[in-house]
Amino acid sequence: MSMVNLTIDGVSVSVPATYTVLEAARKAGVKIPTLCYLKGVNVAGACRVCLVEIEKARALAAACVMPVSEGMVVHTNSPKVRATRKSTLEMILSDHNRDCLSCIRNRNCELQTLADEYSIRKITFEGEKSPSVYDDKSFSIVRDGSKCIKCGRCVAACNKQSIGVLSFLNRGFSTSIGPAYDVSMADAPCIYCGQCIIACPVGALHEKEESEKVWDAIQDPTKHVVMQVAPAVRAAIGEEFGLPYGTRVTGKLFAAMRRLGVDKLYDTNFGADLTIIEEGNELLNRINNGGVLPMITSCSPGWIRFCEFYYPEFIPNLSSCKSPHQMEGALIKSYYAEKKGIDPQTIVTVSVMPCTSKKTEASREQHQNTDGLRDVDIVLTTRELARMIREAGIDFCNLPDEGPDMDLMGEYTGAGVIFGATGGVMEAALRTVADILEDKDLPTFEYKSVRGVAAGIKEAELTLNGKQIRVAVAHSTASARKLLDSIREGTAPSYTFIEIMGCDGGCVCGGGQPQVPAQDLMDIDIRAERAKALYEEDTVMPERKSHKNAEIMKLYKDYLGEPNGHLAHELLHTHYSPREIYPDSLAE
Ligand code: SF4
Ligand code: SF4
Ligand code: SF4
Ligand code: FES
Repeated sequence: MSMVNLTIDGVSVSVPATYTVLEAARKAGVKIPTLCYLKGVNVAGACRVCLVEIEKARALAAACVMPVSEGMVVHTNSPKVRATRKSTLEMILSDHNRDCLSCIRNRNCELQTLADEYSIRKITFEGEKSPSVYDDKSFSIVRDGSKCIKCGRCVAACNKQSIGVLSFLNRGFSTSIGPAYDVSMADAPCIYCGQCIIACPVGALHEKEESEKVWDAIQDPTKHVVMQVAPAVRAAIGEEFGLPYGTRVTGKLFAAMRRLGVDKLYDTNFGADLTIIEEGNELLNRINNGGVLPMITSCSPGWIRFCEFYYPEFIPNLSSCKSPHQMEGALIKSYYAEKKGIDPQTIVTVSVMPCTSKKTEASREQHQNTDGLRDVDIVLTTRELARMIREAGIDFCNLPDEGPDMDLMGEYTGAGVIFGATGGVMEAALRTVADILEDKDLPTFEYKSVRGVAAGIKEAELTLNGKQIRVAVAHSTASARKLLDSIREGTAPSYTFIEIMGCDGGCVCGGGQPQVPAQDLMDIDIRAERAKALYEEDTVMPERKSHKNAEIMKLYKDYLGEPNGHLAHELLHTHYSPREIYPDSLAE
């Protein structure tokens, strides 16, 4: 690799010739502020906050796009640089709704942090504000144009997902960010993956908040609140309380949720184990009876919307299984209600999810029973739960370790835990399907070829009792698009089973997870850090295969009957429909 030597603030550094000044400065231990730059997502040179002075150059240069060169001498902290950055920040703030105290990003806003670091005390460019839109029509995402700084990170994140719902609209002072035709997110072909929210440095994009509904239900003595939490939440929520990335906080998470005052506390991992039983049996039925193959997983609602909008011809390939929290919600309002003698009409089911798309998923008409009862009444993101914990004054980091309530639906296995990482659903399914096909308790069940984030598409091939099983795993809708295109074009091998997750890295990096500052993302791969926490929990579980979950076996024996049977279908399975991308009427 060819290297380049340069000096940054008097520090000599040798870096690969492909580096930018920003990357070289990072290596030299010099921090250059950024706003529009987001590693691996957006390199636009748009905000001009990262300006630096380069000796012998005529103008200041944007460090995020400026390539290094031999002998370059860079000053990142000269009076000229500081004054220019300060003016740039003031200009950005002059067209910004500076509503910090009541803003959802108060305390973790990258613009607020910079305004603090650069001691902005007044805005000298006061004047007219550009026109803006406030859009809270969808179930998942709120767009507040008055806080948008037009950095383009959301546009790049959506493009990286190969969706392209968001773009720059209009020109000059009237420039804004939104879907084509300036329609609401509710009317756009958005999959609600929330990757735009994760990319946004400020409070211009956020989840539709529902925590007040949960507080109301907890306070209402006529309501019985049952809360469940998805596996990926435990790998990230600690970040909201200052713990290092990738800290597994399962015990503290359950202790905190219990202290909020809910009536019953379960782990969605139970639903994940159940999904494996239902999905595994569905796969075996399709293999044995000539059903549609490859079968494709259905736990990621972002992926499901992507399929319904952009690849409807693959709808028959989708597993008919509901996602784990929807299965668990349906059972809470049926099995749990019956066994506990509680009127299901009084039960409020709350799912804590790493995902913004699950808010819309819970509202699907297929996810309610004939009495109009929803499987899941409220979906909170990891961030919303963290805010509730703070609001309740709970000292998260000093909580003791606790677990879910261990009656009826409390047990879970390591296979359920790894659902939160890309490849986890596939590995969990293989652990069960392999045992069934081989008719024994196989001692080797870690399928490491489907783990990891280095490749967007992973493959594995195995022979089980003489049957060839070829599987693929795709994470992010961009990778899903590549995989589906290769199947459509006939260039892909003949797969039996495919796992697709809408978000890059899987649910651990879902749109409802804590936002990581762009500066931190320069040094870490957050997908791998969080996944490690889940694989660690898998290894400490007494059972690591879903079919060894004793409470699930009892559920079938006492209530559901057979996997994929009549009642299981009624409660645990669903269907999908093609969606129109932009109805012609919108363009008129
Ligand atoms: S986006 Fe940031 S700077 Fe703007 S109001 Fe919210 S916290 Fe304040
Ligand atoms: S939620 Fe996903 S699909 Fe929708 S605009 Fe954001 S990034 Fe694009
Ligand atoms: S919505 Fe957020 S990410 Fe998108 S351009 Fe505005 S400030 Fe940047
Ligand atoms: S121009 Fe470099 S971070 Fe925005």
